[in-house]
Amino acid sequence: MVIEPRCGPLRAGLVARADQGEALRVRQHRIPAIIAVALAVACGASSSSPAPRPALPTRPTADQQASADRLLTGPDWYRNAVFYEVNVRSFQDSNGDGIGDLAGLVQRLDYLKELGVDALWLMPIYPTAFKDSGYDIADYRSINAEYGDMAAFEKLVAEAHARKMRVFMDLVLNHTSDKHAWFQESRSSKTNPKADWYVWSDTASRADIGSCTSGTPAVFGPSWSLDPMRGQYFFHRYYPEQPDLNYRNADVVRETLDVARFWLKDENVDGYRCDVIGQLFESPDGCTMIPETVAYIQKLRAVLDEMPEKAMASEPSNLNDSTAYFGNGSNMFHMSFEFGFGYFWGLAFSATDKKLIEDSIKKTMTYPKGSQPGQLIGSHDGVRAWQAAAAETWRYRSGALLSMTMRGTPFIYYGEEVGLRPGTQVVVDSRDSARTPMTWTRGAAHGFTTGTPWLAFGEAPDDTSVEAEDSDPESMLTYYRQLLAFRRGHAVWGVGDMRAVSLDSAQIVAFVREDASERYFVAVNMTDEDQTGSATDPLAGSATAVFGDGELAISGGSVHVTLPARGAAVFQIR
Ligand code: GLC
Ligand code: CA
Repeated sequence: MVIEPRCGPLRAGLVARADQGEALRVRQHRIPAIIAVALAVACGASSSSPAPRPALPTRPTADQQASADRLLTGPDWYRNAVFYEVNVRSFQDSNGDGIGDLAGLVQRLDYLKELGVDALWLMPIYPTAFKDSGYDIADYRSINAEYGDMAAFEKLVAEAHARKMRVFMDLVLNHTSDKHAWFQESRSSKTNPKADWYVWSDTASRADIGSCTSGTPAVFGPSWSLDPMRGQYFFHRYYPEQPDLNYRNADVVRETLDVARFWLKDENVDGYRCDVIGQLFESPDGCTMIPETVAYIQKLRAVLDEMPEKAMASEPSNLNDSTAYFGNGSNMFHMSFEFGFGYFWGLAFSATDKKLIEDSIKKTMTYPKGSQPGQLIGSHDGVRAWQAAAAETWRYRSGALLSMTMRGTPFIYYGEEVGLRPGTQVVVDSRDSARTPMTWTRGAAHGFTTGTPWLAFGEAPDDTSVEAEDSDPESMLTYYRQLLAFRRGHAVWGVGDMRAVSLDSAQIVAFVREDASERYFVAVNMTDEDQTGSATDPLAGSATAVFGDGELAISGGSVHVTLPARGAAVFQIR
C-alpha cells in the first residue's frame, strides 16, 4: 500500500475511501512516488523548526530499564516491546557489494539496542527473484545468498538474543515465487503430484473463486496469467511472478504450517509478521478472512503455542478494522497492525481534523480483550513518514508520539528515527521511494556500503545521517530517543486501558491511558495555531505536563486543554 498525504482533490478522494480497505490499496499503488514528491512541493510543504520543549533525557533511568526487563520477560513480552522493521537489503552492507546483509545488521544491533528496540521484524530474507522485493519467495527454508547463509542467520539470531532482542521473520504464505520448486512442479503437467498446489483454470476465471482478484490491475496486472508450459491459467493476487497457493489442498496446509514450525523451532525465531494473511482461501462469495482462512490461522496459532513466548502480527487486508484477526483474543493473532492510524495519520494532519485518528482509537477500544494493536507511522508499503507529514517536522513528531502512546506495540520502520526521506530511483516499483539505504554517516555512501548502493539514497542523506543527528539536541533522532526513553519500563503504554476524550475541538486528538498504578492524558494539536478544547469527562486529579508543552485543567467533571501551535503534550494525572 502507498498512502499519499496530499492536499486538494487527491486528499479528499482518499479520505472518502478510508473505509474501503482493499479498494484503497488499489488506488494508492497507482500514484508513483515521483508524483508524491511533486505533490508535496505543490502543496506547499516546507521544513519548519520544532516547537520548543524542555530537554528530556535520551536514556531511560536504571529503574526504568529494570522495569522494562521485567515487562519483556514471559509470554506477554511483545505487548511491552518496541519493534523495528528492518529492510535488510538497505540497512548495512558488510562486504562492499552494495547490498545490505545479515552480517551488516549484526554490526548495527548495538545501535538498535541503545535506541530502545526490543524486537526486529525482518522483511523477507529468503531466496527470491526479487520481483516483489522478496515477497516472492523461491524457497521457504533457506536464506537469500545476497544476504548471507543459514550460518549468518543463526549468528544474527544468537547476537540479537544475547542482547535480549527478539527476531520476527516475514511469513509470506498466500503465494510463492514462480521460481519456487512447488510451482515449477505444479506447472509441469496437469497430473503431477503438486498439480493442485496452485489455483489453475482453463480460462482466466473460475466460478469457485468468484470475484476474488487482486483488484489492482494497474500495478499487479490482471489476476490470471497463462502458463504456456501447462497450457492453463493460474491465479495470482499480486504480480504474475507470485502465484497463489491453493489452501484447499491439505498438503499445502500441512507443508506451510511445517515451514512456520521450522523457523520457530529449529532456527529459534521468536515469531512472524504475516503477509496478507487474510487472503489464503478464496470462495465464490468471499475473498478475505472467510471461515476457512480463520480456521487456518487458528492452526498457525496452535503451532506457535507449541513453544513458549512466540508471537505473530498480522497485516490486515481491511485497513480500518482488525477485529477478524484477533479471534477470541487468544486464538489467532497476538498483534495486528492498526492501519486505521498508520496509513491515515498524515491525511488527518493535512485535513487538520482529528476524525480519522479518533476513529482508529475508538475502533481499537472495541477489539476483544487480549488483542494488541501494532502501531506504526510508516512501513515498506507506504510513503516515508516524512512525506505523510508533508515534510513538517512537528507533524512527524506528533505522529510518532501518537504511535507510541496509543494502546499497542509500536513498530518503527527503519530510518524513521532519523527522518529518512524518500528516494526517486525505482528498481522494483514505486514503493522503492521508501526503501532507500540507511544513512549512517555524512559523505560517500553514508556508511551503508564501501561500494555502490543497490538503490540510490533518499533526499538530504547527509542531514539524515546518524552521525549528523547523534549529538544535535533538535534532531529527529534525539526526539525518538527522548520518546523511547520516556515510555520505557512503563507498562501503561503497552497494556494500559485507553479511552478517547472527545473534546469540542476537531483539531485536538486526546485520550487517557491508565493502569492500576499510572494515569496519563495525551493531547495533540493538529494545526499550526494555538488550540483549546473542553469536554465533560470523569477525570479527576491534577495534571503535570511530563512530555511536550501544554496545559490541562481538570475540574468537577470537565477537562480543558490548551496547546500551543504545532504542540503536543503528555500530562501525568495524580
Ligand atoms: C504485503 C506486503 C507487500 C507485498 C504484498 C504481496 O502487502 O507488505 O510489500 O507486495 O503483501 O506479498
Ligand atoms: Ca552485502
